[in-house]
Amino acid sequence: MQVYKVGGAVRDRLLGLPVTDIDRVVVGATTEEMLAQGFRPVGADFPVFLHPKTGEEYALARTERKSGRGYGGFTFYASPEVTLEEDLIRRDLTINAMAEDDQQNLTDPYHGQRDLQARILRHVSPAFAEDPLRVLRVARFAARYAGLGFTVAPETLELMRQLSKSGELQALTAERSWKEISRALMEDQPQVFIQVLRDCGALEVLMPEVDALFGVPQPETHHPEIDTGLHTLSVLQQAALHKQPLTVRWACLLHDLGKGLTPQEQWPRHIAHEHTGLKLIKAVNERFKAPKDCHELALLVGQYHTHGHRALELKASTLLELLQSFDVYRRPQRFEEFIAACEMDARGRKGLEQRSYPQADYLRGAATAARGVAVQPLLEQGFKGPALGEALKRERLKALKAYKEAASG
Ligand code: CTP
Repeated sequence: MQVYKVGGAVRDRLLGLPVTDIDRVVVGATTEEMLAQGFRPVGADFPVFLHPKTGEEYALARTERKSGRGYGGFTFYASPEVTLEEDLIRRDLTINAMAEDDQQNLTDPYHGQRDLQARILRHVSPAFAEDPLRVLRVARFAARYAGLGFTVAPETLELMRQLSKSGELQALTAERSWKEISRALMEDQPQVFIQVLRDCGALEVLMPEVDALFGVPQPETHHPEIDTGLHTLSVLQQAALHKQPLTVRWACLLHDLGKGLTPQEQWPRHIAHEHTGLKLIKAVNERFKAPKDCHELALLVGQYHTHGHRALELKASTLLELLQSFDVYRRPQRFEEFIAACEMDARGRKGLEQRSYPQADYLRGAATAARGVAVQPLLEQGFKGPALGEALKRERLKALKAYKEAASG
């Protein structure tokens, strides 16, 4: 049997990037031979094994034939006769379809190296269409390598367009899609992920609520970029520049969904978009089974981002409601993430990227003031149950009034 490194390990070494996980392909071996050598099988029908010592992945060279819809519809054909070239041709991109032996001799039948140099993400063969998740993967690679100048080959984008139209994307499981989406959002240029999905018609299928924002105008005074879709991309870009966590990036992507519902007669104003958007934000989160922290923050940012921007003008009672909604006393981190998302929203506007955002410190100060109210003295005064809750609220309101006065004076 022969063993080769394949996929990301070869690609990233040639790009001069750090290699984290190494996938290997095994040519000329049977499942029985692998098991006899102590390899541990992964899953029942999948010809993938873990090395007994290193735990690294070894996959038998295989061809794939599609027998049904979606990923579950695969049957794998692995046999010692399958050649390296036959294995590589069914991979997604030419830059991912190179193999390397122990001496770093490269096998590159589909010109991955040429495409690496030309900075092109190009599919290897029509077998690309066997796994619709690859539409998301290509968009993710585009986001990851945009800084190096990579773009998607026109013929690959066309194939992605056909796949998006075919209804295949709907067959993807929420888990597989979310894994790609969440990884893509954490790349340096997550806005490229959304842009590429849009360019091939996949955004319209996966997140029609986000797609609908393109072409929707906003008032130029606050939004010199005007278009809500472009604004959303910029907010996402700011979130990445400021190294925000996934929760914040996800909330940034979804914060303005309500603007896609505004009747055209009301353009460019979007009255109450914070509320109209909530059901859409919920729907997107449920579609991809987003983790609870992402889902919660997206809803809160959707509902309250305008409060964030208007923080300095809010009445003490409104500030208190805001802090209560975030349960800032027990969940201080979530409020920090809200502030970050608001700041990204404010900066994700054409020409305003460097603006200061005094609302951030003001909100932090308000949270500190409200949290500074001690429970003990109220307990000592005999408050308990709902009455204690009310007394706490009153004290916090007092603290916030004092805070507001001190801040304006
Ligand atoms: N692959 C594929 N189609 C998929 C998933 C994987 O063709 N839907 C192939 C590609 O050749 C890929 C390799 O399997 O390079 C390994 O896949 P994976 O580990 O998911 O990705 P990497 O390319 O290693 O990229 P990353 O750095 O994102 O992990």
